[in-house]
Amino acid sequence: MKLLVKGGKIIDPANNFSKAADILVVGGKISAVGQNLCADGAEIIDAQGKLVCPGFIDMHVHLREPGLEAKETIASGTRAAARGGFTGVACMPNTKPVVDSQALVEFIKSRAAAQGVVNVYPIGAITKGSAGGELAEIGDMKLAGAVAVSDDGHPVTNSQVMRLAMEYTKMFDLPVISHCEDLDLVADGVMNEGYYSTVYGLKGISRAAEEVMVARDIMLAELTGARLHIAHISTAGSVELVRMAKKKGLKVSAEATPHHFALTDEVVGSYDTSTKVNPPLRGTDDVKAVKEGLRDGTIDVIATDHAPHAVEEKDVEYNYAPFGIVGLETAVGLAFRELVNPGILSIEELVRKMSCSPARILGLNKGHLGVGADADITLIDPDRQEIIDVNKFASKGKNSPFGGWKLTGLPVATIVGGRVVMRDRELVL
Ligand code: DOR
Ligand code: ZN
Repeated sequence: MKLLVKGGKIIDPANNFSKAADILVVGGKISAVGQNLCADGAEIIDAQGKLVCPGFIDMHVHLREPGLEAKETIASGTRAAARGGFTGVACMPNTKPVVDSQALVEFIKSRAAAQGVVNVYPIGAITKGSAGGELAEIGDMKLAGAVAVSDDGHPVTNSQVMRLAMEYTKMFDLPVISHCEDLDLVADGVMNEGYYSTVYGLKGISRAAEEVMVARDIMLAELTGARLHIAHISTAGSVELVRMAKKKGLKVSAEATPHHFALTDEVVGSYDTSTKVNPPLRGTDDVKAVKEGLRDGTIDVIATDHAPHAVEEKDVEYNYAPFGIVGLETAVGLAFRELVNPGILSIEELVRKMSCSPARILGLNKGHLGVGADADITLIDPDRQEIIDVNKFASKGKNSPFGGWKLTGLPVATIVGGRVVMRDRELVL
């Protein structure tokens, strides 16, 4: 099977290549990159006016399978990924049961092979059941194909357990993805602590509840020499801590979500539970700091923390709703709106944060478009506009605060291993 992506502008920062060219795909791999390529019998994708990028990888996604299929499944979540321009997703282990063993990593992989439409990279738990007590079978999970470990959704409260996890993962060169949250400080907070939590009469979550754990984990990364990745960074103070860690030369990386750079806590005044997320939406200064962190390289990755919940779970009073925002189908448009269109990130830098860096951190041979590379390709039309309609999401989760937003700069084709899975904003399967 041959595929010819014709006439687009190739954005391939890993190979320092940004110019108009065609890409020929044969047998799922890139077989040629150059001018005026042709191939008999090839399926043609007209990429005139489009940006042709290495496939985007979302390294923080909740696919909810096994056990929470009412919220999302590997089938529905990977369809949402394809619609959003992602050719791969790393899925968090806070399922039922928690992915803390080789058998469960293998289950995800076999399910993804049978029902997934994009690549799925399982993340294993740090501790058994993500309960924080005893280390999970990290070595076994790595052998089964886990690309990282995380207790995401929960912090690893016990510092000694976190230290041991880092000592252990270091031997396997696996990154530890940390959900930084001090549960005692969070108490029963539901939104950012500050002016708006007072005005709206909702209990606050202080910035310190995140920052004390970011600081602790950076210290443990220094002590152990392990690779630490800070998930969903949300405060100016956390960004500064990561900046200092990088200056020291520690193996620390970080990700920010579109909702944390596109929204502030002011929007919680709608009492719309789709604004309830953990860590919470923060203040204007935090959003500014997150954008500056993305611009200056402190924050390596844009990841969605796609966290689908069933409609009836979110359709309750603010205090009772679960935390989470779906992000796969709005991420690229929000990144254009907040970062690329205002000139904070070049398109090359965006591709680094949505493809090259997640691939590097997870140890995947992805994120580049040279001859011989896997044909995972994301096409973006920087002029394409759409008004977000949550009912059109392929995700089962409709919990997005971005419904009704008009976004410019959207993925228009997703190609996974040479197979077109999304074209012209519609799934083709
Ligand atoms: O808002 C969130 N939802 N934050 C998390 O850390 C977990 C996630 C979930 O699993 O729903
Ligand atoms: Zn988390």
